[in-house]
Amino acid sequence: MNTMLKSGLERFGILLAGTLILLTALPSLALASPAGVVNLYTSRHYGVEPVFAEFTRVTGIQVRFTTGPDAMLRERIRAEGRHTLADIYLAVDAGNLWLAARDGLLQPVNSRTLQQNIPATLRDPGNHWFGLTQRVRTLMYHPERVRPEELSTYEALADPKWRGRLIMRPATHSYTQSLVASMIAAHGEAKAEEIVRGWVANQPTLIDSDTRILETLAAGKGDVAITNHYYLGRLLQANPAFPVRIFWANQGERGAHVNISGAGVTTHAPNRENAIKLLEWLSGQGQKLFADSNHEYPANPAVEPHQIIAGFGSFNRDQLSMAEYGRLQEAAVRLLDRAGYR
Ligand SMILES: [Fe+2]
Repeated sequence: MNTMLKSGLERFGILLAGTLILLTALPSLALASPAGVVNLYTSRHYGVEPVFAEFTRVTGIQVRFTTGPDAMLRERIRAEGRHTLADIYLAVDAGNLWLAARDGLLQPVNSRTLQQNIPATLRDPGNHWFGLTQRVRTLMYHPERVRPEELSTYEALADPKWRGRLIMRPATHSYTQSLVASMIAAHGEAKAEEIVRGWVANQPTLIDSDTRILETLAAGKGDVAITNHYYLGRLLQANPAFPVRIFWANQGERGAHVNISGAGVTTHAPNRENAIKLLEWLSGQGQKLFADSNHEYPANPAVEPHQIIAGFGSFNRDQLSMAEYGRLQEAAVRLLDRAGYR
């Protein structure tokens, strides 16, 4: 067989195999409604079905989604290239969205609605991605073992008084990397590294799940932890007496560390118009439902938070642009490694 034809057929075969896998993941694609479909690759999967069902009810547009870890979904969009079924990449952590934009996987969207609904610090200055909800990574404590007056900042957890008393997430997780990126932005690398070395010297217990971190804290196997706020929201929803309290970090200064879940339209989105409609809807009409589905703070300041997290009280947030977390992520990873944080 002619080699060009053969390699063409091989490529077609690979493409077909990839498409078949996707069709299995998106089973009812063939039953598209007249308003069409929109396909998402998403790492944020908590409670999204009722949100998408409501969007379909309002617009007639069918929503198909497939879930997976952020990096894997980016790799898939890259590998599928022009033939991708993904219209939207929905991710947690600004660092992931920044990487997708840097690698050319997202296209700019010029939408007045998105620009009005989402504050500038929570979206890409180049309009490749938009924050849709805010999550705050802050201090958590066991109320019988720590008084709130003993707490103040992320930085103060480097004090030797916390030796053997901390529970934290490993360096491999983007939540840790973005927190450290925000400290680099606030202090510069040298000072940020000194702080992280102080944490390491306190020999924190490292657990790669915020839920398990809070459960370990509740069990008294540690006194202070750093986690995202919504994990406590979930545990309190299940058990209002869950024995962990939230403490808003760095209130006297830059404010508590904010991150986002957010989304962008893929470069080769087959259903671009529907994708933009879904993002606009999520930022406005659907914003409350979407934020509440995971006890997150709405990105749209006009929308009220869920009552459980409203009960955490008001607080100051770090106003650092989300784009900085991406820009400083590699520096944060290297810093964590140098400081011996695993
Ligand atoms: Fe999370």
